[in-house]
Amino acid sequence: MSAVPVLETRGLGIRFGGLKAVDDVSLSVPEGLTLGVIGPNGAGKSTFINLVTGHLKPTSGTVLVDGRDLTGVKPWVIAKARVARTFQIVKPFRGMTVRENVAVGVLYGPDGTGRMSTALKQADEILAEVGIFELGDRPPGELSVADARRLEFAKALALKPRLLLLDEVMAGLRPGEIEPSLQLIRDLKARGMTIIVVEHVMKAILAVSDEVLVLNAGQRLMLGPPREVLSDPQVIEAYLGHKYATRAAQLSEAASAALAAPTPTPTPTPNAVDIAEEEVGPDA
Ligand SMILES: Nc1ncnc2c1ncn2[C@@H]1O[C@H](COP(=O)(O)OP(=O)(O)OP(=O)(O)O)[C@@H](O)[C@H]1O
Ligand SMILES: [Mg+2]
Repeated sequence: MSAVPVLETRGLGIRFGGLKAVDDVSLSVPEGLTLGVIGPNGAGKSTFINLVTGHLKPTSGTVLVDGRDLTGVKPWVIAKARVARTFQIVKPFRGMTVRENVAVGVLYGPDGTGRMSTALKQADEILAEVGIFELGDRPPGELSVADARRLEFAKALALKPRLLLLDEVMAGLRPGEIEPSLQLIRDLKARGMTIIVVEHVMKAILAVSDEVLVLNAGQRLMLGPPREVLSDPQVIEAYLGHKYATRAAQLSEAASAALAAPTPTPTPTPNAVDIAEEEVGPDA
């Protein structure tokens, strides 16, 4: 394992007019880490990914990949540095089949040999890995939401990344469809890939993250171990809003009362996951 972080941002930020969409975010992601990123809608999560992957140019700060300054370079330069991402709004090439969509990534990726036959073969392997091998001949427009997200995943894997940034690859999936995506992330982790997972599905964040970053109004609100971060009152308030923070306090009080009773019933400390499940549901 390298001592140089795979990704480091220093004071990273971007302004859109008067809005600081990402504001002075510094963090370091060591090799092999899976970093979960959460935060309310509009917190700057996708913008952060766009800044790292060259889809937006920062107005301040630095992006270092493996210690190399790649601030503001074009997306294909970032891809050559083995950084790949998915898009929150899926972006397949509509005139091609599912297999060809993935093959294009292989062909132009860091290991591309320029041979279409090799690229198509590798595309099939990647489609099998994400679980849509049998859909290879279809046009992407025919895919279900879940399969379109898998294709997005496959397109990113086609670039053979060392750092993979996933922007809500589980959004809109039914609970039964989430587990295969989680398993895929676990498999990639086991291979040593460094992963940044932006997700609103808290269960998923908890299942795969080694650390969790909370963004709020573009700023780094907190970074730490998942359970610690998700039970932080400030995070609950920022992420789920005042209503949920009040509910958390009530649950916490109830828990203390139960513990003070003569025959205490063990009650777990509520956290953002419990509250989200109780009142928001997994896809909120
Ligand atoms: N190209 C742009 N021009 C102007 N404003 C933008 C642009 N991109 C993003 N923003 C604004 O920046 C803020 C952060 O947006 P972003 O999409 O990063 O949020 P997010 O955390 O990904 O939210 P969500 O959870 O809804 O996906 C929002 O207020 C958004 O409207
Ligand atoms: Mg987003």
